Amino acid sequence: MNILLSGFGGFMGREVIKLADANYMNANVVCGVDAFFKGESNVPCFNSFNDVNVKCDLIIDFSFHTVVKDLLEYAVKNGIPTVIATTGHTEEEKTIIKEASAKIPVFYAANYSIGVSLLVNLAKITAKTMVGADIEIIEAHHNRKVDAPSGTALMIYEGIKEVLPNSFAVHGRSGASKRQTGEIGIHALRMGNVVGEHQVIVSTNNQTITLKHEAHNRALFAEGAIVAGDFLLKQGAGLYGMKDLLKD
Ligand SMILES: NC(=O)c1ccc[n+]([C@@H]2O[C@H](COP(=O)([O-])OP(=O)(O)OC[C@H]3O[C@@H](n4cnc5c(N)ncnc54)[C@H](O)[C@@H]3O)[C@@H](O)[C@H]2O)c1
Repeated sequence: MNILLSGFGGFMGREVIKLADANYMNANVVCGVDAFFKGESNVPCFNSFNDVNVKCDLIIDFSFHTVVKDLLEYAVKNGIPTVIATTGHTEEEKTIIKEASAKIPVFYAANYSIGVSLLVNLAKITAKTMVGADIEIIEAHHNRKVDAPSGTALMIYEGIKEVLPNSFAVHGRSGASKRQTGEIGIHALRMGNVVGEHQVIVSTNNQTITLKHEAHNRALFAEGAIVAGDFLLKQGAGLYGMKDLLKD
């Protein structure tokens, strides 16, 4: 697949290029768009979508939220499926994304980690199947992380809540705090240089299942965006997300 990479010079853009150089899923970056890129590159990198004169089959976007308007104008005009991995869009920009998806295939997700999406699915199945089990979520991140618990831990919790609507979160425990029915314990560890670990423990009196995802680096998001692109090339116009990717 021949990719136009928006955010060509950024951290995630470079991760996509590394994967394409290693021929991951036949990804081939044919050009980039990046308003601020001034470095050397093997393929042309344009400052604006108006300047692009290279044909591609797919657009992958890891740039800045304000780029989405020009990007989708170009994608719709040329009928190019688009993976939007950039985050932080305003409501107005989200409407632009929705409108474009009526005309071309658009993939839009806040977290492109295939492993995390799988973990949420597995946690839901396990929580639903192990009737009456005690459920605990433990996450670990580096000592520089500001927010706790992580957005991913909350995503896992929300996923479980979809199948067990009466459950509720308890953040950490201390003192007299006996477990209540429906309680989901959420615990945040902050230590060293940990990129991101999430564990879901589902335990009855007779058995325990532990599900664990470990992120080794941020390349996993680039990997996920390329997998989403490969999926998108086989779809018609519409708005797709990680749930669609894991259906088959
Ligand atoms: N969905 C996910 O799973 C996921 C994972 C990681 C990062 N992200 C998102 O991807 C985006 C990029 O992340 P990053 O770490 O690579 O950031 P970055 O700052 O390293 O790179 C962004 C790139 O976009 C370019 N850019 C910025 N403003 C622009 C503009 N107005 N026009 C054109 N190009 C512009 C910059 O020059 C830069 O090269 C962020 O929104 C980030 O939150 C999403």
